[in-house]
Amino acid sequence: MTAANSRLILGGLFLLAVWHSLDVSNPKAWTFRELKRDLRGLAAKSNNRDEPLILSGLNATSPVRCHNNASYCCGLWNVTADDWWMHHPDWEVVHEDSFKFCFAPVQNDTKRAFIRDLHWLQWQFDIDESSTNEISSLERPLPSNYNFSVNCSDMRATVNINSGYGASLMWLIHSFWEAYTQRKPFQTIQKWPWLYTFSRPDNNSTWANCKERDQTCFYLPISPCSREDKNQPRYEKRPENGNETQVMQRLWIEEYLSRPKQFLRQQLYHLRQPIEHTLRKNGCLAMHVRRGDAGAPKPPYRRYAAVQEYLDQVPNLTANTTIFLLTDDASTIEEVRQHHASKHHWVYTNKIRVHGVEQGFNNHIPAHSSGPDELAYISVEQELASKYCDSLVHGRSGYAYTLFERMKSTGRPIQTYYLETRVLPRSANPFKGKPQERAAFLMQQVQDLYQKQNESNAQLVS
Ligand SMILES: *[C@@H]1O[C@H](CO)[C@@H](O)[C@H](O)[C@H]1NC(C)=O
Ligand SMILES: *[C@@H]1O[C@H](CO)[C@@H](O)[C@H](O)[C@H]1NC(C)=O
Ligand SMILES: *[C@@H]1O[C@H](CO)[C@@H](O)[C@H](O)[C@H]1NC(C)=O
Ligand SMILES: *[C@@H]1O[C@H](CO)[C@@H](O)[C@H](O)[C@H]1NC(C)=O
Ligand SMILES: *[C@@H]1O[C@H](CO)[C@@H](O)[C@H](O)[C@H]1NC(C)=O
Ligand SMILES: *[C@@H]1O[C@H](CO)[C@@H](O)[C@H](O)[C@H]1NC(C)=O
Ligand SMILES: *[C@@H]1O[C@H](CO)[C@@H](O)[C@H](O)[C@H]1NC(C)=O
Ligand SMILES: *[C@@H]1O[C@H](CO)[C@@H](O)[C@H](O)[C@H]1NC(C)=O
Ligand SMILES: *[C@@H]1O[C@H](CO)[C@@H](O)[C@H](O)[C@H]1NC(C)=O
Ligand SMILES: *[C@@H]1O[C@H](CO)[C@@H](O)[C@H](O)[C@H]1NC(C)=O
Ligand SMILES: *[C@@H]1O[C@H](CO)[C@@H](O)[C@H](O)[C@H]1NC(C)=O
Ligand SMILES: *[C@@H]1O[C@H](CO)[C@@H](O)[C@H](O)[C@H]1NC(C)=O
Repeated sequence: MTAANSRLILGGLFLLAVWHSLDVSNPKAWTFRELKRDLRGLAAKSNNRDEPLILSGLNATSPVRCHNNASYCCGLWNVTADDWWMHHPDWEVVHEDSFKFCFAPVQNDTKRAFIRDLHWLQWQFDIDESSTNEISSLERPLPSNYNFSVNCSDMRATVNINSGYGASLMWLIHSFWEAYTQRKPFQTIQKWPWLYTFSRPDNNSTWANCKERDQTCFYLPISPCSREDKNQPRYEKRPENGNETQVMQRLWIEEYLSRPKQFLRQQLYHLRQPIEHTLRKNGCLAMHVRRGDAGAPKPPYRRYAAVQEYLDQVPNLTANTTIFLLTDDASTIEEVRQHHASKHHWVYTNKIRVHGVEQGFNNHIPAHSSGPDELAYISVEQELASKYCDSLVHGRSGYAYTLFERMKSTGRPIQTYYLETRVLPRSANPFKGKPQERAAFLMQQVQDLYQKQNESNAQLVS
């Protein structure tokens, strides 16, 4: 069959696909209880020698095994299922443990229809073709030489910005969404490295060294079109407000374009183990304290705020409140240990942090880790906070904004408390080119606040 022929046939299938995806009857319906029951069955078997049998024989051409009439499909960490998930974006991860993971179809009909439509636009590949056939074909990814019939000359593109997690992702999401609304395929142009792809200067051997050095190192590909810069028409969108549907669509686009590759997913699984249990049990208030590049003499002009100031924004704190602290800088953790440890229940990821100021390698990522490690921690923190926290206290930050949107997307009511951390440019500018002095000055302000508090406490006592 020629490529042109297969294009025609796929085009015909598309009409069917749209019809099917609007059909409310979901052929792969499963209930969460069923899934849990089956997984318990699998887990019980994993304690004896049956487990390797159930998932044995998985390989690159057959990376998952589907169960219960294809209501979910599971794989092993040591066999990559990336090619499989790439063209099953309407399946989501529903289970992970130390040696396996499982996908199940997205249950929300509107979301599933949107993702299928988006995927069609991006790849001209009809998901139904692979998923409604018999199970053995569902278990196989597409052959690597599959010819997608996307018209790449019609593609819209964007060059990623080399900024922090929130800003970079927002840029991609909004540009992608713009292309989607114009019914154009979208691709990111490979231009410059993303800061999270850098290793520590003294150690280049990280788990995520990748030649592209951008988002594509971590996330599944979104398009078969070339990433070379050929002056394609560009969509370069800053975040903007939208109505409820638009906000929802952008979140689904975010999920679509940031599906972690398996090696990253495994890393994330291990990173969240030490704290997930606590957060699940207690719930949490998420607190985002941005230091690192806050205070830099460039917009948006920001200061460091004391942890006390964030706490003061939350009227109903109790000794029982579990606070999930998200921060980029060691000074925040030290401050909590010195002044607040006994008053609340604190949870934070145990990455090593240094006192960082924006400069050179520390640009946005002061933690004393390589960029990829930092990205992994950020991803885990966003995931856990959005899953378990019902409130968020934060200052001015694109990262906090993306976190809030994700928390809201779970459908739970989310209470936010905002601390104004903006300052006038003139208070930041004296430190141009002197990041160490700036950080010292800002930290002194934080210290002064506690000093004053101690003094007024002392006066109250006397
Ligand atoms: C399995 O799923 C198909 C639809 O995908 C359905 O037609 C069939 O009845 C199901 N079989 C069983 C045993 O549930
Ligand atoms: C991969 O596994 C499938 C199913 O078990 C099997 O049919 C196929 O021959 C295997 N392929 C390779 C390359 O081993
Ligand atoms: C993956 O690990 C399982 C045990 O968990 C083992 O049985 C299997 O042979 C491994 N597969 C590969 C491809 O290494
Ligand atoms: C799907 O999700 C959207 C957005 O969260 C929600 O408005 C809608 O009611 C959901 N639809 C179904 C069928 O659950
Ligand atoms: C895709 O197209 C190339 C070049 O036209 C051809 O060599 C290859 O066999 C095709 N692959 C498939 C799976 O049809
Ligand atoms: C592909 O897109 C270009 C640019 O929009 C257009 O000129 C061309 O006709 C399209 N090709 C096909 C086969 O649709
Ligand atoms: C790591 O890579 C950077 C950029 O290629 C290079 O400048 C640096 O010398 C390397 N460091 C080590 C320890 O190899
Ligand atoms: C370099 O990084 C790797 C991966 O993070 C780590 O395993 C290794 O111990 C590090 N080496 C040094 C010398 O720090
Ligand atoms: C939201 O925006 C979409 C376009 O993206 C539009 O079709 C829809 O009518 C809008 N909904 C409301 C309630 O304004
Ligand atoms: C804190 O939790 C404990 C045990 O769950 C409970 O007995 C106590 O009343 C709670 N205190 C407050 C102030 O909510
Ligand atoms: C404080 O109360 C609000 C409104 O009842 C609630 O949504 C929020 O989760 C509470 N925050 C904390 C930290 O308990
Ligand atoms: C304030 O007092 C506490 C103990 O009451 C002490 O740990 C802390 O160091 C003092 N802070 C300052 C800035 O003096």
